[in-house]
Amino acid sequence: MDVRRLHPIFGAELSGPDLSQVPDQALIDLVERLMEEHVVLCIRGQGHITDEEHLRFARAFGPLELPGMYRPDEPRRMAYGLYDASNLDVNGEIVDRESLRAKFAKGNEIFHADSSFNDMPSKWSMLRGVIVPPERGDTEFVDLRHVYDELPQAMKNRIETLVAEHSFAASRIKGGASPEEAARIREIMPGAMQPMVRISPSGRKSLFVGSHAFRVEGLSDAEGTALIDELIAFASQEKFIYAHKWRQGDLLIWDNRYALHRGTAFDYVRYKRDLRRANVNEYGEERSAITAPLRAISN
Ligand code: OGA
Ligand code: MN
Repeated sequence: MDVRRLHPIFGAELSGPDLSQVPDQALIDLVERLMEEHVVLCIRGQGHITDEEHLRFARAFGPLELPGMYRPDEPRRMAYGLYDASNLDVNGEIVDRESLRAKFAKGNEIFHADSSFNDMPSKWSMLRGVIVPPERGDTEFVDLRHVYDELPQAMKNRIETLVAEHSFAASRIKGGASPEEAARIREIMPGAMQPMVRISPSGRKSLFVGSHAFRVEGLSDAEGTALIDELIAFASQEKFIYAHKWRQGDLLIWDNRYALHRGTAFDYVRYKRDLRRANVNEYGEERSAITAPLRAISN
């Protein structure tokens, strides 16, 4: 197995595993150890694996968070259990720029932690590059432990015990969803409270914000959003960012507790970009963060 660093601050790539094989305990332990140290890990060369093998590998690290957007019996391009993070419809054609899917993708272009609006304890996302565009469309990351270390002491003191409310509707509004669409999202995804400072397993403190955060307990709405925006702007500094240039067959894993990520623009109407994502929680039953199919709210 060959491990290399991806960025001076964090991130690693691992070459050698073949995820079409049942992962053995040595590989599972290695991935856990690399994730704890680097928070982002790219396993290269998995262009040959199936959706089921992707899901099997994910389940080695925790129970799946199921995508609630579809019913299990609905026609899809991919195995049930995977999130469709592509710009493609069920027939594999590029979707309309004005579609809800495209608006949701726009919402992904602000730094966020997947499923921070879920009351289940989100652990990792595993995004697989099935088709990648020939240019642009990087996925960018920051290590929130490092960002926390770099915060001014006054800000560390200010946020130490603060708790923020996270909602999927909040981030989709930032991406251009209408108030009506947001209201319908809120009905089926109530949101969750999250501390603004977390402690990682190694004992390092870590900032926790992102585009789903929209309110801070004990602050006015205006003060809360100003604080959240200030922290996201601080975290978004160029010097903190690792930009992942996709290669077909990458399996990119990130820790949603200690890293933020965002999509970046590419030629959305010209190039297919087929990314498929498995999410795992720390523990608990396999269930969705959504209580009804999203289709029900997207007319
Ligand atoms: C995601 C996500 C960004 C991208 O799948 O959770 O935010 O680059 N993706 O597609
Ligand atoms: Mn995401």
